[in-house]
Amino acid sequence: MRVRIAPSLLSADFARLAEALAVAEAGGADLVHVDVMDGHFVPNLTIGPPVVRALRKATRLPLDVHLMIERPEATLPEYLDAGADWISVHVEATCHLQRCLDIIRRAGAKAGAAINPATPTLALSDAWTDLDYSVVMSVNPGWGGQPFLRTSIEKVRRLNAEARAAGSRLSIEVDGGVGIDNASALAEAGAEILVAGTAIYGAGDPAGAIGQLREAARPSVRA
Ligand code: DX5
Ligand code: ZN
Repeated sequence: MRVRIAPSLLSADFARLAEALAVAEAGGADLVHVDVMDGHFVPNLTIGPPVVRALRKATRLPLDVHLMIERPEATLPEYLDAGADWISVHVEATCHLQRCLDIIRRAGAKAGAAINPATPTLALSDAWTDLDYSVVMSVNPGWGGQPFLRTSIEKVRRLNAEARAAGSRLSIEVDGGVGIDNASALAEAGAEILVAGTAIYGAGDPAGAIGQLREAARPSVRA
């Protein structure tokens, strides 16, 4: 299984987003991860649909939009209209997970559900057929640069086993504190998409860091 790398723009210079996209392309990224925060679901506040629309015009890479917002069902169509290719909503932020996933899929985008570190994988177990991917948060969402929660590795393994047992083909994405020190263990546990902010945009050579992360996740270099 080939692991996909999704650089998170949250750790890039927000005044130079076009350059950050160019770095992602030059480094061979598979997706660009876009963190949307509303100042309510998480304390931090970032960007909204107009910036997603501008990013869409500036890259050919798929945009993986991570909505850390309350009641995502209210504004989902705006992100779809802005050109998001993948959208994840937090299960903790909506009473209407199935409706959200249905809205996303009907628009032709990939539908994802994110779970916070303290949210059990059980929260996804009645949504297998509606999910293209799930996002296991390996930090508490809100900021880049936080330390990786190692319990996430077992959570990925468990989620992967539960999904496969249910006949689901969803992809597991891991977000938060991902780097070359944990990429191998995450891939071995079943993660298919690794989001990385600081490990890429905080590196001296961000484009090179994408390749290093991919290399670290390859089966041949796993212990
Ligand atoms: C955290 C965001 C992450 C963040 C990851 O709330 O969802 O996408 O940008 O950044 P790092 O890789 O620095 O933890
Ligand atoms: Zn994110």
